Amino acid sequence: MMVTKTVKDLRKHIKELHLSPVGLVPTMGALHEGHLSLVRNAAAQCPLVVISIYVNPTQFNDKEDLKNYPRTIEADLHLLKEVLRKSDIVFNPDDKEIYPTEDKRVFHFGNLENVMEALHRPGHFNGVAQVVSRLFEIVNPDIAYFGMKDFQQVAVIKELVKQTGYKVRIIGNPIIREADGLAMSSRNRLLEPEIRKKAPVIYKTILSASEMTDKLDIPEIKEYVRKTIENENGFSVEYFEIVDDAELIPVSKKRELKTRKHYFGCIAVKAGKIRLIDNIEIQLV
Ligand code: PAJ
Repeated sequence: MMVTKTVKDLRKHIKELHLSPVGLVPTMGALHEGHLSLVRNAAAQCPLVVISIYVNPTQFNDKEDLKNYPRTIEADLHLLKEVLRKSDIVFNPDDKEIYPTEDKRVFHFGNLENVMEALHRPGHFNGVAQVVSRLFEIVNPDIAYFGMKDFQQVAVIKELVKQTGYKVRIIGNPIIREADGLAMSSRNRLLEPEIRKKAPVIYKTILSASEMTDKLDIPEIKEYVRKTIENENGFSVEYFEIVDDAELIPVSKKRELKTRKHYFGCIAVKAGKIRLIDNIEIQLV
């Protein structure tokens, strides 16, 4: 694999290799099996894979979170050596490569801006759209790979592509979990040991919730999720919403559910000082 920090080198290599389709996997590093699964899927479909490792400051609404975000480039490169091929590229730019001048663009994503992560992390998706659109312009990929762990992010990126007309196919990949069910996340390594031990409660609870739609209506399911998770010391639920996978409109009653749509239960939890998200498909009765 080849590692580059500059847009100029990256573009030169992509041009010289002349391979297609080009697959892009955007990441912020601190890589784990979740990221590697995206890289493997990309490599299975694309003779050229570009993985970007860049902690994008514009998507952090919390400056402490940006400061504490794990940066483990040596370990990341080590992991990537196992999954990338000779011609694949790791792009690890500095801020000035991505933002030569301040990015003042403001994006609008309709209802996607009024729910869940968008409400709890103001400005977050604007920053995601800024960096992902820059990466699309720099790499010009045919296919871009994202994880369904960041369920709302996938919807936002699809909307971004629709609005801007980038010729890129967006693929949402399944959530990869630890053996105990906790969704893999770069932030898991920041969890205090006691909190980490209890963190599987998040997935366990939404999994049970997903099996309750035949017996309970949505307000009761939401109540069950909040109570069960907050029963653990140090855990508080920011939100748990059941939404459709296109517009992400929250449903409040089972009678609002439509049989042709897919629904997901999406959750954000403060686990000690760390914020974790997860989601699960809710099968209809
Ligand atoms: P990051 O959190 O590093 O995640 C990079 C990609 O890996 C995202 O598409 C994310 O959904 C996916 N991913 C993370 N954990 C996963 C898991 N357990 N299973 C499957 N996929 C998983 O998401 C971002 O970075 C940034 O917002 C980014 C898109 C790179 C823009 O800066």
